[in-house]
Amino acid sequence: MPLSKTALNQVIRPVTARVNPLGNWDIGSCDLAELVKTYGSPLYVLDEASIQSACRAYLQALREHYPGPSEVLYASKALCNLAVNRLIHEEGLTTEVVSGGELFTVLKAGIPAESVTFQGNNKSFEELRYALKEGVGRFVVDNLDELDLLSTLAEEIGISPNVMLRVAPGIEAHTHAFIRTGEIDSKFGLDLPSQLDEAIRRISRRPLLRFLGLHAHVGSQIFDVEPFVATVEVLLDLCAKLERDYGLPVAELDVGGGLGIAYEAGDDPPSIDAAIEAISLAMIRGTSQRGLSLPKLIVEPGRSIVGTAGATVYTVGSRKAIPEVRTYVAVDGGMPDNPRVVTYGARYSVDRVAAGDNEELVTLAGKCCESGDILIKDIQLPKLKAGDHLVVWDTGAYCFSMASNYNRLPRPAMVLVAEGHSEVIRERETFADMVSRDRLPSRLGGQR
Ligand SMILES: Cc1ncc(COP(=O)(O)O)c(C=O)c1O
Repeated sequence: MPLSKTALNQVIRPVTARVNPLGNWDIGSCDLAELVKTYGSPLYVLDEASIQSACRAYLQALREHYPGPSEVLYASKALCNLAVNRLIHEEGLTTEVVSGGELFTVLKAGIPAESVTFQGNNKSFEELRYALKEGVGRFVVDNLDELDLLSTLAEEIGISPNVMLRVAPGIEAHTHAFIRTGEIDSKFGLDLPSQLDEAIRRISRRPLLRFLGLHAHVGSQIFDVEPFVATVEVLLDLCAKLERDYGLPVAELDVGGGLGIAYEAGDDPPSIDAAIEAISLAMIRGTSQRGLSLPKLIVEPGRSIVGTAGATVYTVGSRKAIPEVRTYVAVDGGMPDNPRVVTYGARYSVDRVAAGDNEELVTLAGKCCESGDILIKDIQLPKLKAGDHLVVWDTGAYCFSMASNYNRLPRPAMVLVAEGHSEVIRERETFADMVSRDRLPSRLGGQR
């Protein structure tokens, strides 16, 4: 598949999205109206070619711009299931997890533990033990408590884990406050410089811990290369300091993920290639200025790998027109399958699956009992009636992975599409699933 320089993260629809001769939107040469007929609604649709294209863009950009060793970790929190993790692994990316559940999923997908990196600000005793026993390749230690816990467990089990230290670099990425992570007032990472110094002292007393390097991640949905360049600068200053103060070389630098994607016309994130080029140049220039050798450069994107690949197809239901105020058109999903709108005020683009005319201004509402359950406010769409299908683009990242069963709505199925073929990669939940873990106490009649 040829790679275009307009990166996937700069367009709103998957690479294979087309209007077919019937006038319907296709993804992966699969007609979305047909997919909903077969698999039900709402439906998450995931384009295999788009995921492959994003993975290849990262790998190619690193090959072109960074002369040292490099690695692309897929931040599986963006979309974590067996098929997606496996597909991305087969493209040559390694995997980042932040919980025992993500680790379990990744291992079940057949991904070798040594290619997994374990992140997170509060890994539990059980999670760390599980990861150590499975032979996870890297632990990104977030705080001093975790460092102690990890070293105690490693000594107990008799394992030598590879350790990176996450620092809070004090960089403000211009993105939503909930997805900014690099500031000093953040729950993530070691405070600088004192907690980093302390962590290095503790590592030097724990010979089982193998120190690999430093990590920082400053936020998500970032539309500028500056925060990445600034992160590199801070990390390289720390590398120089560790060499000078402790004679400790830093073999690996992980500059995090966070590259944004376009959700609406006018959104203008740097391309994957441009972001990697800027990071690489900063690494090359910064290491030479400080007399350091080039460490392994690690990036860990999530959203820009799977975001644009995903779309959600809904079916229109009821309609409420309030004269001279607003017309609400409700769909059969909403905040449970896409919590990003209520959480971050995220904005999306939408099309009617079948072509149409007579455009009107409507507000797309979800079906939950929350006034805030609005998918898209004030959007011009062809006249909609009950039974019509709508496709909301760019729902591949942080929709399924943040989905809930609010109002006991079963989570939608997810299908992977490629070259006219579709296959379920996540079954639709059922009403029975909604109660499968409920228990009636004996005084109310006992188990059901
Ligand atoms: C530590 C870490 N790495 C990588 C990512 C992936 O970020 P994104 O999906 O914006 O690329 C995140 C997400 O917040 C993160 O917390």
